[in-house]
Amino acid sequence: MAETFRVNEVGPRDGLQSQGKTLTASDRLAMISSLVDAGIRHLEAGSFVSPKAVPQMAGTAEVFADLPSKQSVRYAGLIPNMKGYELATEAGAEVLNVVLSVTETMNQKNIGMSLDKTAEVCESIIRRGRGEGIEVQAYLAVAFECPFEGRTHPAVVTRFADQMQEAGAAKIIIADTIGAANPAQVRQVLHGVAEVAPVEKLSCHFHDTRGLALANILAAIDFGVREFDSSIGGLGGCPFSPGATGNVATEDVVLLLESMGYETGIQPLDLVPVVREIEVMTGVQLGGKSYRWLAQQWDKRNGVPSHGG
Ligand code: COA
Ligand code: ZN
Repeated sequence: MAETFRVNEVGPRDGLQSQGKTLTASDRLAMISSLVDAGIRHLEAGSFVSPKAVPQMAGTAEVFADLPSKQSVRYAGLIPNMKGYELATEAGAEVLNVVLSVTETMNQKNIGMSLDKTAEVCESIIRRGRGEGIEVQAYLAVAFECPFEGRTHPAVVTRFADQMQEAGAAKIIIADTIGAANPAQVRQVLHGVAEVAPVEKLSCHFHDTRGLALANILAAIDFGVREFDSSIGGLGGCPFSPGATGNVATEDVVLLLESMGYETGIQPLDLVPVVREIEVMTGVQLGGKSYRWLAQQWDKRNGVPSHGG
């Protein structure tokens, strides 16, 4: 039987948070519905953060109030602090993502807290979640390189993975926030983290700034990782990390996995109309490396005349 992979869609949070255009809650819900219709079953639906810091994520409680197919889709919300925990759980979120950037400067720029303080806050959120039936997943951001402090030492990532694992994090997600990792580094960082947490608990979050995200995913697959974050059409960037572009595109990850014989529950072609819809919504041209080819296949399948050229 084919091995199953989890593709976790982060476009509605990581993708939208850096867009010039702020979508309404109902547009965000329309985007989420289309993703779910295309087969997405794991999705980060928004963040409960200060609307002054990230105006694009204002109204996330409204989004959570109306999420489609709640029984069959696992929705997560990102939170930066205990206030976020309270807002998210009041809004009905049952899976929460905390973010610990593993460098001092990135934490200060992102959430105005020191690294040690952020680690402490993440730990107490994880412990509280365990007591209240809320799954808390821990992101280790800038795990390969920080835009302010340069290369991240793998031992630092291991140390914080250990702390999050000890606190009882449901998952530990190794995040290449600015898209600077290479496959050798991926192996090195995963090797360290696997000493403190089981590989089944690990997930990876890559941005495709330098075009190496799929190669990094392949390195992580070889290491045993079976869950990856991605963003539809490669939508995204990071408002707090200069120079970072979007996440690896969902259609690229799904195509890679499905063509290797793994099961994602998603047909790559079904993502084509979703990319088109979100291009119209955001006014941004989207599409990962495989998108042109996929779009041609989709047009052919649906009898749309070729655009030539
Ligand atoms: N959700 C909504 N509002 C929040 C909040 C949360 N989780 N946490 C704090 N606030 C509010 C406070 O109530 C306060 O509101 P007020 O100005 O009306 O009194 C305001 O935000 C400032 O709070 P303060 O505690 O002084 O912190 P700050 O100004 O240093 O901001 C964060 C800290 C964490 C709230 C802010 O930096 C943030 O939301 N960052 C998120 C960044 C992000 O999403 N990054 C990408 C994903 S990692
Ligand atoms: Zn990201």
